[in-house]
Amino acid sequence: MIIIKNEQEQDGMRRAGRVAARVLDEVARQVRPGITTAELDAFGAGRIAHHGGRSAFLGYRKYPCHLCISVNEEVVHGIASERRLQFGDLVSLDVGVHFRGFIGDNARTVCVGGCSPEQQRLMDVTEQSLHEAIGQAVPGNRVADISRAVQKYVERAGYSVVREFVGHGVGRSMHEEPQVPNYIDGKRSPRLKAGMTLAIEPMVNAGLAGVRVLSDNWTVVTEDGLPSAHFEHTVLVTGGAPEILTCLDEVLC
Ligand code: MF3
Ligand code: CO
Repeated sequence: MIIIKNEQEQDGMRRAGRVAARVLDEVARQVRPGITTAELDAFGAGRIAHHGGRSAFLGYRKYPCHLCISVNEEVVHGIASERRLQFGDLVSLDVGVHFRGFIGDNARTVCVGGCSPEQQRLMDVTEQSLHEAIGQAVPGNRVADISRAVQKYVERAGYSVVREFVGHGVGRSMHEEPQVPNYIDGKRSPRLKAGMTLAIEPMVNAGLAGVRVLSDNWTVVTEDGLPSAHFEHTVLVTGGAPEILTCLDEVLC
């Protein structure tokens, strides 16, 4: 069952989304050569607490960190460690915050020090595929319209979408119905209605789509070792234009 949020719940989602967006931005600003991913995780934990929230990830199916930090060929669910980020690394940051009963979920990929043209293009295509998808989050459309928008945009650019992990409904729980795949799976998908809140999150590989999970049972990496990028927003379907709940800056979203 897909949960439709009433006005009051939508306000709760707006607040949670705003906190998640702020924390993601604050963490992104700390990314620099020499910082460890454990330091970034601790910093994120501090910012989440400062805003009065708690991590939606810590303890979820025993996930051990506050944030997901995934470097280079790591796709999602990277585990913080003493690894020091180096100039030229590509880092995906995923922040989910529980705030007064609701969850905001968002992610972004950044470069350490500076981006190569290849890294910049991978990031740009992934972020734009998210915005193509958000544009489809209108009543009367189906979830598959979101999926198709991502897949089309990504594959036309010569990249691949990850199949094994998908976006999702989000609300009082981190994972609600429906699943929001980033590709067309041929299945009939639900129709979108005003009041639905979705975490749309394309994971885009520079090379082939295949991924595997490392022996830590969490870190997802590309099979071919090529880099991957991840952008995510929590979005409210309205009667009109979709509302990005994890938007920091109206001009940029
Ligand atoms: N944004 C991811 C998701 O929605 C992050 C979950 S990480 C986990 O699934 F550790 F909490 F599983
Ligand atoms: Co998510």
